[in-house]
Amino acid sequence: MKMNIKVENLKNVQSHNNSKGIFLFESYMELQQGFPCDKLNNILSCLSESKEFTGKKGDLYTLTNIEDGSIQKTILVGLGEKAKCKVDNVRNNTSKLIKEVIKQKIKTLDLHVKSMDCCCNYEKVKAITESIIMTTYNFDKYKSDKKEVLLEEVRIIFHEDQDLAKLNEAVEEGRLLAEGNLISRELVNEPANILTPEALSKKVQQLGLDHGFQVEVYNKEEIKNFGMESFLSVGKGSSNEPKLIVMRYMGDTNNKENILGLVGKGLTFDAGGYCLKTAGSMWTMKSDMGGAGAVIGAMSTIARKGLKKNIVAVVAACENLISGDAYRPGDIINTMNGKTIEIINTDAEGRLTLVDAVTYIIRKENVTKVVDIATLTGAVGGAIGSAATGVVTNDDEFYSLLEEASLHCDERVWRFPTFDEYKEKIKTGNADLVNSTGPVGAGAITAGLFIGEFVEDKPWLHLDIAATAFTSQTPNREYFSKGATGVGSRLLYEIAKRY
Ligand code: BES
Ligand code: MN
Ligand code: ZN
Repeated sequence: MKMNIKVENLKNVQSHNNSKGIFLFESYMELQQGFPCDKLNNILSCLSESKEFTGKKGDLYTLTNIEDGSIQKTILVGLGEKAKCKVDNVRNNTSKLIKEVIKQKIKTLDLHVKSMDCCCNYEKVKAITESIIMTTYNFDKYKSDKKEVLLEEVRIIFHEDQDLAKLNEAVEEGRLLAEGNLISRELVNEPANILTPEALSKKVQQLGLDHGFQVEVYNKEEIKNFGMESFLSVGKGSSNEPKLIVMRYMGDTNNKENILGLVGKGLTFDAGGYCLKTAGSMWTMKSDMGGAGAVIGAMSTIARKGLKKNIVAVVAACENLISGDAYRPGDIINTMNGKTIEIINTDAEGRLTLVDAVTYIIRKENVTKVVDIATLTGAVGGAIGSAATGVVTNDDEFYSLLEEASLHCDERVWRFPTFDEYKEKIKTGNADLVNSTGPVGAGAITAGLFIGEFVEDKPWLHLDIAATAFTSQTPNREYFSKGATGVGSRLLYEIAKRY
């Protein structure tokens, strides 16, 4: 059911006593007074004096009382020191609250907020909305015992008068961002027996119809005609045929030659091929289309928001398995670009699919800039863990734009160096390039630079989300759930918006 979220000014809403069951507001370490309600201010003074609730970051405090025969709850959440409070903090602590609200089986919620110094109210409302919707998600469609979410209405109530039309726009943008993120998560969580390349292409076609972007899907024969031998080699071992999925959204028709290209890695499963992975975590490789999930979620948000930008996205979807038809280590293959590649490791397959997708998007879709996003290397996690997405780029200005986008969604990025000695490492074999450099270190960088060999001087960003797209442990953001995080979808939207 669609969650009803709206912004109100305090003077327009019924008094607290008649509110629908709960109110809830945020508090800083120095407990904020001055709420236009004596009862709340009293409570705050008492709590502050007794030190029962001090507003420490993430602390929750629930007060229950009976008003006119009905139970009313007030939940306080701590935001920590005011000077250190950032919008990320609002997103995370809103999520803590919403989990508590869901646990307490509450249906309607009044969220009392005040203006903050750290961000404008537009950003704040957008962040709160994103957080509410992302927090309600659970991948439980295959479970008989599902978590129930009764919450259906949230009023975000400002205590100083606000421009409601503007802030309700922030709710809408936050909703579209969150729903894009959940589209990604759902696709990434879906197991590979259900989400084959063909099933993925059908889902994208449906999303295109629902959300307003054009979708074209090419089959194996057509992919062969494009000359994408590299992409096809990876999928050869699977009886599920590869699909090349193209999404187009032209929101700025006066500027047709200016097009942002997004390429998402779309391995619906990666067993490693003949360089087979070990059993322990192989099951998580259903998430090897996290890049595809990100571009698909972003395209949905971009189209629904109606951004005045031109964006084309491409996913080369296939499965990396073993069979008598599978490609082998030592094989030398061609690419759509014409450069040849020696296969050193069949488990370094993502880059092989990506380079043909990059050539396609540059030569056939005429994009002016390229962003590729991929669960590409285990090495990125070795380098920086899951605290950030690793980035390789050839353009300082484009990277600055990415940093700005990153700040607006709290999906962190970190730029790697691109020294010449890394570039030399991918040129050491019996063909123009080798697809793996072996255990010489800097694997996340050499993988990125491999893709860089195909960008034909276009400004380019490579985002390695291998360590950020999926987690089998407790996620590092409150509003993420175990499994897919949907990372990339909000980030790509924020890039497109600024592009
Ligand atoms: N899909 C994997 C990367 C990956 C690893 C994603 C862990 C998520 C979690 C990729 O195709 C892969 O297998 N990369 C190899 C490259 C190596 C053979 C050069 C890796 O990282 O081991
Ligand atoms: Mn692999
Ligand atoms: Zn892979």
